[in-house]
Formats: sequence, C-alpha cells, structure tokens
Amino acid sequence: MDSVRSGHGLHVAIVMDGNGRWANARGLPRTEGHKAGEDALMDVIAGAIESGVSVLSVYAFSTENWKRSPREVSFLMGYSREVIRRRRDELNSWGVRILWSGRQARLWGSVLKELKEAERLTRHNSTITLNFCVNYGGRAEIADAAARLAEDVKRGLVHPSQINPDLLGQYMYQPDLPDVDLFIRTGGEQRTSNFLLWESPYAELIFVDEAWPEFDRHSLWRCLEQYSGRNRRFGGARDAVADPQI
Ligand code: FPP
Repeated sequence: MDSVRSGHGLHVAIVMDGNGRWANARGLPRTEGHKAGEDALMDVIAGAIESGVSVLSVYAFSTENWKRSPREVSFLMGYSREVIRRRRDELNSWGVRILWSGRQARLWGSVLKELKEAERLTRHNSTITLNFCVNYGGRAEIADAAARLAEDVKRGLVHPSQINPDLLGQYMYQPDLPDVDLFIRTGGEQRTSNFLLWESPYAELIFVDEAWPEFDRHSLWRCLEQYSGRNRRFGGARDAVADPQI
C-alpha cells in the first residue's frame, strides 16, 4: 500500500491530545483516557515503522502539565514510568531507539531512571527513533540552551560573534535529530502548545478531530498522505508567471 511507504525518512511530532475529554464523554475519569492512550501510542509507533518514519516525537507531559490536579499529575508521572518499564523490551525488539527530551528539574527521579535505562538499552537500535518528551516545554528547552551557551561564553569557549541559529541549535536537547517535517495534533484543538518550537520552523501542521485514544496507524497514514500533497517551500518561492520587474 502506497500510504504505508510515504513516511520515509520523516520526523513526525505528535501532540497526543484529547484523552481526558474522550474519557469524560464516556462517563470515565480522565485517567482512563490516558490508559487508553497507551494502546494508541503503541499502534502508532508500529505504523510509523511500517511507513518508514525515521523519528517520532511524542508529547507525554509538558512543563505546563504541572498545573493539573495533584492526582492527575501523580497518575501521569507514575503511568509514564510504568509504560516505559512495561514496553521497553517490546520496543527494543522492534528496533526502536528511545530518547528522552525534557527538563530534569521536578521530573520524578523514578521516571528519569526508567527513561535513562530505556535510552541505554535501546541506544544501538536504528529502525526508528522515539523521542519521548516528558517534562518538556519548547521555551524551557530554548532557555536551557541559552543558559548552557552563556556558560560556554563565560568560559571563553564561544565568542558572542559566533552565535547563530546553527550554533544555538547545537545546545538543544537532541541536536542530532532533524527538524520536524510533520506536526500532528489530535483532539480538535488547533495550536502547538509549546511543543518542539525550535525544531518546527517549517513543519507542516495537521490537526485532526479524533481524540488520541481513537488515533491509530491508519490515522497516521492518512496524515502522511495529506502531508505528501503539501508544497514545502522553506521560505522560497517560484514565480509561475514571468515577472517583467526582475
Ligand atoms: C493530553 O490529553 C495527553 C496527555 C497530557 C498525556 C499523554 C499521555 C498519553 C498519550 C498516554 C500514554 C501514556 C504515556 C505515558 C505515553 P489531555 O489530558 O490534555 O486531554 P483533554 O484535552 O481532553 O483534556
């Protein structure tokens, strides 16, 4: 099937939104929506592998999610830890390289420990990279990068005149990953919510109404098909009509 192949080499980023509303609409607590989101995530990773996607970045917990009820925050932290621990051998057997992106401050030590173990276990895999964003915020990432760059300036390793987007980019959490090609948000809202700000300057945006628990590999493939019809110009332009001024 054509659509299965069309993600070749792409970096796809997903805001997995709509879990809480999906659950509440069924008379269930929000946490049940997050639980249902785990199966969606596994199916989407499998579908991303089948379609040749090379990097899949997923937003599991944002630096702003600490504003939620203490009960939901605890659930999300504990559940992230459990999902990583429970799924990492399966992901490893699929050839998934797991990376964690986020801020260490506030992140539960037990979650960080599982993330680091998953990174270690899967570091030689090359089928796909799963960039698991936990306690991640785009502005926090850019601020952290600026702080580390300032340290290098202070130590005399970098001169301010050398600072340009390429150099600053080297201070982001995952400097070796390519920019985002396709940015998907489920759950019907049309905003990027501080996800991969630096990495998505020319990402194609697709917003889908399905809640995350309803999203699966076929939904991903539909997004990839839509992406393949987009005309990416990266700021360039070509005149379709001869211009006498130039
Ligand atoms: C957004 O839905 C989702 C999250 C904040 C959590 C993402 C977690 C999962 C997809 C579950 C899989 C588990 C892990 C740990 C990967 P929302 O709660 O903002 O939904 P709403 O917009 O309906 O309130």
